Amino acid sequence: MINFNDIQKIIFSSKSAKLTGHRIKIKEKDYIQFESFYNNQAFHENILLENLHDFFRENILKYKQADIFLTNSHYMAFNKNSEILFYKTKDKIINIKTKEHNRRKNYIITEGDNIPVFIELGIFTKDFKIINSMYNKFKQINRFVELFNDMSGKFDEIYKKYNKINIIDFGCGKSYLTFILYYYFINIKKFPEDFIKITGIDLKEKVVENCNLLAPKYGYKNLSFETGDIKNYKPKFMPNIVVSLHGCDTVTDYALYNALKWQSDIIFAAPCCEHEINSQININLMRNILKYGIIKERFSALLTNSIRCNILEIKNYKTELIEFVDITHSPKNLLIRAIKNNTGINKNQVDKIKIQKELDETLKKFEINQTLNNLINN
Ligand SMILES: C[S@@+](CC[C@H](N)C(=O)[O-])C[C@H]1O[C@@H](n2cnc3c(N)ncnc32)[C@H](O)[C@@H]1O
Repeated sequence: MINFNDIQKIIFSSKSAKLTGHRIKIKEKDYIQFESFYNNQAFHENILLENLHDFFRENILKYKQADIFLTNSHYMAFNKNSEILFYKTKDKIINIKTKEHNRRKNYIITEGDNIPVFIELGIFTKDFKIINSMYNKFKQINRFVELFNDMSGKFDEIYKKYNKINIIDFGCGKSYLTFILYYYFINIKKFPEDFIKITGIDLKEKVVENCNLLAPKYGYKNLSFETGDIKNYKPKFMPNIVVSLHGCDTVTDYALYNALKWQSDIIFAAPCCEHEINSQININLMRNILKYGIIKERFSALLTNSIRCNILEIKNYKTELIEFVDITHSPKNLLIRAIKNNTGINKNQVDKIKIQKELDETLKKFEINQTLNNLINN
């Protein structure tokens, strides 16, 4: 019999579906993290190792077959008329390392890296240690860059196509992310400086002024900042990448709208404080569900982000909604990652009309207006 405590990876499969789980550690506890896809979006479910047996039983009955990888051996399991049969295979001896959910080791930027501007930005101490109060922010931006790094191949495509990478960071604030992105492209990816241009935009004059002093001081020659309102921002160059980290309320909608208008190739937007729908939603449709303030708030936020993602899909962007940091690090932990679909294989017109119709019906039922939807359709 298999020792479930030693399982490192499982792949459940049927003729038409697959469910893959990897072992991870979260706060010293072992889990198998299962990832499934629906409508191009990844969903994660973490199963505590001690509950894996029940989960396994339930799913082998559903999927019929499973590949089970232990530290040094491999089994196949089959469901035959509700009886579960295990076979040990000899040819797939493996040695899988546990995925640490403490992602510190995988960070693109690590404590101790010699990045003087981070000292002045208040991220690092003078000896390049993370300032305690900045730890969560550091983790968020690092994860953002890590997900950015997954797009490495896309950057080459963009370069070939436009001979430049132009990035706009909307609502850049103190610009931790903006500086890190510049550092990433120049110091880590080693792109020639003339090939990269990054501009941070924010309403606040004082922070923009400060960032504009810091960039040249540290030799970041193609990094600049502008005071401006995202709502009527006119770029001096066509941005092929648009990012926005924690753009409050409708700032994310305008960031997405601008990127769609400019047909930017890559969009990374982590929304925050989605008040718009929460302040309008007619709860009568689900009175007992939405009578709790916290549920209403979270439901409104999820609805907002789902509407945004659907619109991006309608506009031919391959879109994912990712939980980019653990909720214990920030409740503002969703990231919209959208990549322009250049393959020519886009959702067909019938699907798009259907999605938009369904969105319109939802908005009508809940008696809400949603900024991105309004901007796109009016
Ligand atoms: C929560 S802060 C996030 C700052 C930064 N991106 C970060 O994650 O540290 C949101 C920023 O958006 C800016 N902002 C809000 N409304 C804006 C608008 N209409 N146009 C441009 N910036 C805006 C604010 O001034 C603020 O700096």
